[in-house]
Amino acid sequence: MDLVTAITGASGALYAQRFIQGLVAAGVKVHLIVSPLGRRLLHDELGMETVDLTALAGTAEHTVTLYNYNDVGAKPASGSFLHQGMVIVPCSSNTLAEVAHGLGDNLISRAAAVTLKERRRLILAHREMPLSPIDINNYKILGDAGAILAPTNPGFYLNPESVGEIVDFVAGKLMDLLGVAHALDTRWDPKNIRPPSGASGQTR
Ligand SMILES: Cc1cc2nc3c(=O)[nH]c(=O)nc-3n(C[C@H](O)[C@H](O)[C@H](O)COP(=O)(O)O)c2cc1C
Repeated sequence: MDLVTAITGASGALYAQRFIQGLVAAGVKVHLIVSPLGRRLLHDELGMETVDLTALAGTAEHTVTLYNYNDVGAKPASGSFLHQGMVIVPCSSNTLAEVAHGLGDNLISRAAAVTLKERRRLILAHREMPLSPIDINNYKILGDAGAILAPTNPGFYLNPESVGEIVDFVAGKLMDLLGVAHALDTRWDPKNIRPPSGASGQTR
């Protein structure tokens, strides 16, 4: 399986890292594009000086290829490059708007436009709060065009005990949307719900 993944300048670099780790563990070939503000995010939130593929994949034995954001002639820019879907995680409002309006002057927006025109799965893990009326209009445009809007919006019904478990909830959901097998404990199942640790209001 080949999947295009893009990291843009919205908060939540950990979501991208756990998602890519899950893809690599499942044997997926990851075609990665990082926007300039995505690089800044990797620096600010994960301490990466450059895009560290080994750290993102969680192993030196990875299947991740990094593409140049400005190279709109790279493989993911063409419909003849066969892949099974594209995920933008995290997705900024800026990239949301570019994709909603069919722009293609960088490899992320171009690859997303191609994914839509080829009727392949396009998933945008948008992060912003609150949403502006413009974001909401762009959700509508993208939903009508066949994209999946999957905001980084974790549920708490599994009673998570760490930030990692909250991150895994979103990463696991993205993999479920793509049909990628994973071992993350992220799905609702009344038999497996951990009891709440208490209603003290203290953070863990
Ligand atoms: C540390 C940091 C966090 C940011 N978080 C968000 C965010 O959560 N959502 C968002 O839409 N923009 C966020 N921004 C602003 C975007 O990075 C900015 O609009 C940028 O132009 C996005 O470019 P890109 O879509 O090409 O990555 C953030 C910027 C920085 C520096």
